Amino acid sequence: MTTALAILLAGLACAGLIAVYTVLLDSPPLPSGGAARAGLVALIPPDLPDGQVYELGCGWGDLALDLAKAMPERRVVAVEASPLPWLVAKLRALGRKNLSVRWGRIEALDLSDAALVAAYLGPKPMTRLSDKLRTELPPQSVFLSNGFALADLTPERMVNLPTPVTTTLYRYRMREAA
Ligand SMILES: C[S@@+](CC[C@H](N)C(=O)[O-])C[C@H]1O[C@@H](n2cnc3c(N)ncnc32)[C@H](O)[C@@H]1O
Repeated sequence: MTTALAILLAGLACAGLIAVYTVLLDSPPLPSGGAARAGLVALIPPDLPDGQVYELGCGWGDLALDLAKAMPERRVVAVEASPLPWLVAKLRALGRKNLSVRWGRIEALDLSDAALVAAYLGPKPMTRLSDKLRTELPPQSVFLSNGFALADLTPERMVNLPTPVTTTLYRYRMREAA
């Protein structure tokens, strides 16, 4: 087998693996753009309670790295189930002491010690996760979402980004579960 053929097959295997996980998770590993990441960081309120920061579905690690840089005093935990993006995010986090990148499903995380949770997911994963977020996140903790609203909760703040396709950023302040 020639080197070129081996590279082509490896590339196809990687693309296939990404495609399979995109279908399984209803979400491609599409990174938040620079403006969205900066907008989410700007939405971090000064009065966060004690606790950890979580990035749900961190993809290649772009947003998780920005969160870890913005909050060097906090431990940031990022989780990703798609193997290749997880590996890249894990390697990118090596120099960042306050960021750990875990391979696994968001559903398996215990978010009860969260101060802030950030995500850029999609309509189906957001619907699946909304009960978990509402019941598990402590009162006064903050949920930031790029592009997708949480059903039945009113955001504390919304920012529309004038990117080519209008994107809305949401900030929710969690209350006692009813
Ligand atoms: C649109 S990308 C966002 C990547 C990154 N958060 C960012 O903003 O740059 C969503 C990521 O969430 C991951 N994901 C979706 N559902 C998941 C789940 N239930 N558990 C773990 N990862 C999940 C996908 O594999 C994908 O990489």
